[in-house]
Amino acid sequence: MSEIARQTERLPGAGRARVFSGVKPTGHLTLGNYLGAMRRWAVTDQHRSEALFCVVDLHALTVEHDPARVRRLSRQAATLLLAVGLDPALCTVFVQSHVDEHARLAYLMECTAGVGEMRRMVQYKEEREREKGKGARGEEEWGGGRLSLLTYPALMAADILAYGTHEVPVGEDQAQHLELTRNLAERFNRRYGRVFVVPRATHPPVAARVMDLQEPTSKMGKSRQVGTAGIVYLLDEPETVRRKVLRAVTDGADGVVYDRGERPGVANLLEVLAACTGVADPAELAGSYGSYGALKKDAAEAVVELLRPVRERHAELAADPGYVAAVLREGAERARGMARPRVDAAYGAVGLMAAEGEERGEGEARW
Ligand code: TYM
Repeated sequence: MSEIARQTERLPGAGRARVFSGVKPTGHLTLGNYLGAMRRWAVTDQHRSEALFCVVDLHALTVEHDPARVRRLSRQAATLLLAVGLDPALCTVFVQSHVDEHARLAYLMECTAGVGEMRRMVQYKEEREREKGKGARGEEEWGGGRLSLLTYPALMAADILAYGTHEVPVGEDQAQHLELTRNLAERFNRRYGRVFVVPRATHPPVAARVMDLQEPTSKMGKSRQVGTAGIVYLLDEPETVRRKVLRAVTDGADGVVYDRGERPGVANLLEVLAACTGVADPAELAGSYGSYGALKKDAAEAVVELLRPVRERHAELAADPGYVAAVLREGAERARGMARPRVDAAYGAVGLMAAEGEERGEGEARW
């Protein structure tokens, strides 16, 4: 076993399943965030593993942003993480920018990744188009948007790899980023000695990609700028939720059939209803509906009931900002302690000299 491998075996968390995931404060959190990711964090992940959940605020700076809004949305996202049931006694909840190791390791990931593979990221291409559409200043001034939008997946890989993460519970849209993270971990380990655990993505069985209710061929995304009638936000009033779901775009065909390709609007409603009511197979649900109206009504009520406790708990927590701040402070401290040894090991492995009195591995290669 190499020196680095020996050291990483001893790192905190080695031998126990570790989970890491995050949410980006670029908008109000949505039903897609909840069904695709957050609900599982609270219901299963925090109970069965050593789990960390993060408001990844540095990622919110990759597109044009308003500083006060990012701060507000970060606080709201952190409060919502607790409102959906994350328990600081069971897991670690924190804000990315409070832990320097993310940015420290991101640079090494940029030195591991290639420009070509970054350019191939679908989310980069989509966001870039969106920024262009908004006439974002970056596009005008520098021709191409923020550089950090391109390098974003290196920071995301760092978020995950810093903690020796085994599993990353995310929606389907993050699958490509996770594949890249795996490649970077393997490449780094091959070049410099085994420092990183190679993580895998996990997705929910249904509603891994909740679609926009008005445009069911596009993902329900919090950062969308054009119209919000198709997006259910976690903090929407019940009446607003009902209105949005009842007005969901379907199609003119007869009968309720589950077909994601041909009937995306109906399929989306069936998936949402299945996810809310714990039914594993949305196709099975289709059989119990004779009309779109009845399906929409049930889906609307199911979403209202699903979100009710989240809204109520959010209101309680928002009234106690001192508590949320204390949770985040402790979370960041714990996260720092977990990430630091591995990021130090990575710095040593690539050949960066330790400061006097510091201990770092030197990797397998010796010159
Ligand atoms: P973000 O903030 O866009 O979304 C947070 C989580 O919600 C999931 N999600 C969805 N799932 C189903 N249907 C949808 N319509 C939907 N919209 C969002 C996402 O898949 C995600 O799991 N790059 C990440 C943030 C990130 C991260 C990380 C995640 C940064 N570093 C490290 C995991 C690990 C993002 O933009 O998520």
